[in-house]
Amino acid sequence: MKQIKNSILNHTKNLSPFTELEKSLILEAEKATANAYAPFSNFFVGAAILLQNGEIITGSNQENASYPNGLCAERVALNTYGNMRTEEKIVAMAITAKSKDFKIPEILSPCGACLQVMAEYVKRQNSDFRIIVFSEVGGYYYAEGVSTFLPFGFNLNRK
Ligand code: THU
Repeated sequence: MKQIKNSILNHTKNLSPFTELEKSLILEAEKATANAYAPFSNFFVGAAILLQNGEIITGSNQENASYPNGLCAERVALNTYGNMRTEEKIVAMAITAKSKDFKIPEILSPCGACLQVMAEYVKRQNSDFRIIVFSEVGGYYYAEGVSTFLPFGFNLNRK
């Protein structure tokens, strides 16, 4: 049998496997839930991106009365990063959510659309980045790359 992809999802209940920068990243994602505009779902998501130089960029979900026009926290953060046109690569991304109305899943995976957008940034910078998702119920799940969550994203390469 040939193994096609490595896909290891790690789990921890405490912060011990993380670097100091990653701990700050997780904290920033948690703080970003307070910026969410989620009056329709009451599901408050925070995302934070860590760059090579230590800089952190955050995002939160922004909803709309016309529901499909809302945007997830991850894409708000990622496209804010894209708009900076910086050469600094993304090294990690942390995501968390809060809600009084919903049970937060044990593994709080980003949605498929956000994973596809992450995969585009992986391609653009030619290196994968660490994903840390965490919820009070499940603790911390983390993987070395986006491909653990999205093994076969869509990709177009011109001939
Ligand atoms: N949401 C995110 O921000 N990230 C995800 O990965 C999935 C869902 C938001 C979208 C919407 O505002 C709310 O959570 C409920 O779906």
